[in-house]
Amino acid sequence: MDAILKAENVVKTFGALRALDGVTVEVPRGKITLLIGPNGSGKTTLMNVLSGVLKPDSGRVILDGEDITELEPHERFKRGLVRNFQIPRLFAGLLVLENAAFARHGNPGEGVFTGIMKRLWRDFEEETVRRAVRLITFTRIRHLWDKKPGELSGGQMKLLEITRSLMPDNAKVVLMDEPTAGVNPTLAHEIFRRIQQIRDERGITFLIVEHRLDIATGYVDYAYAMAYGKVVAHGTPEEVLNHPKVIESYLGG
Ligand SMILES: Nc1ncnc2c1ncn2[C@@H]1O[C@H](COP(=O)(O)OP(=O)(O)OP(=O)(O)O)[C@@H](O)[C@H]1O
Ligand SMILES: [Mg+2]
Repeated sequence: MDAILKAENVVKTFGALRALDGVTVEVPRGKITLLIGPNGSGKTTLMNVLSGVLKPDSGRVILDGEDITELEPHERFKRGLVRNFQIPRLFAGLLVLENAAFARHGNPGEGVFTGIMKRLWRDFEEETVRRAVRLITFTRIRHLWDKKPGELSGGQMKLLEITRSLMPDNAKVVLMDEPTAGVNPTLAHEIFRRIQQIRDERGITFLIVEHRLDIATGYVDYAYAMAYGKVVAHGTPEEVLNHPKVIESYLGG
């Protein structure tokens, strides 16, 4: 398999708990890969290790052949590894369009924003604004451009968070943690259709944690299943969903 991103034998403990207990995952280039597993199986922890939010106790993370295990999140971002969060991280004081625009060059450290209270339009290049408008149109939140995150529904916040992960010009791999949580089924299907379109048009690779298997499985190319900090199955979505260990892990959980 041509894997653009790999976790190799990753272990991550929290005290006595082995949240990741020797996890190896290969994310195929230019495809949409689904990561499933019961609550607490280690999915978000793996996303955190891949994006650099957490350092593993042992094991390696490889992006496009380069060992990035020791790199900070912003250094991974520069190399095209982008993530969003299970709980959207938006700037409460900025408009939807500004939140989108800011994501083009990554989330700067909090310190950068301390004390900045003015509107920031003049700091954006025209191209950034144009790009942000294009993407909020694409994700169907253009009409909300001058709202603040607090005025959005949960689903709209998710769409904004997704917009943000598509803003960087050099995005190669996008990690998404539950992009459709709290979103109605129609919109959830729409989100996955958009993700497919981006895969096809920009060749971006996606690794997506999703609990809504009924919706997600129709859109993904490959799947991994975790249970108790281990990978228990991988393959086509059908193979993984029908795997006895996967069924057992959901029944047991
Ligand atoms: N920072 C932390 N400190 C201590 N324990 C943690 C921490 N983060 C995660 N855990 C524990 O690690 C295990 C895996 O958690 P994780 O969030 O990765 O699960 P998940 O598969 O994403 O679950 P969910 O589907 O509910 O989002 C859980 O038992 C969780 O309680
Ligand atoms: Mg999680």
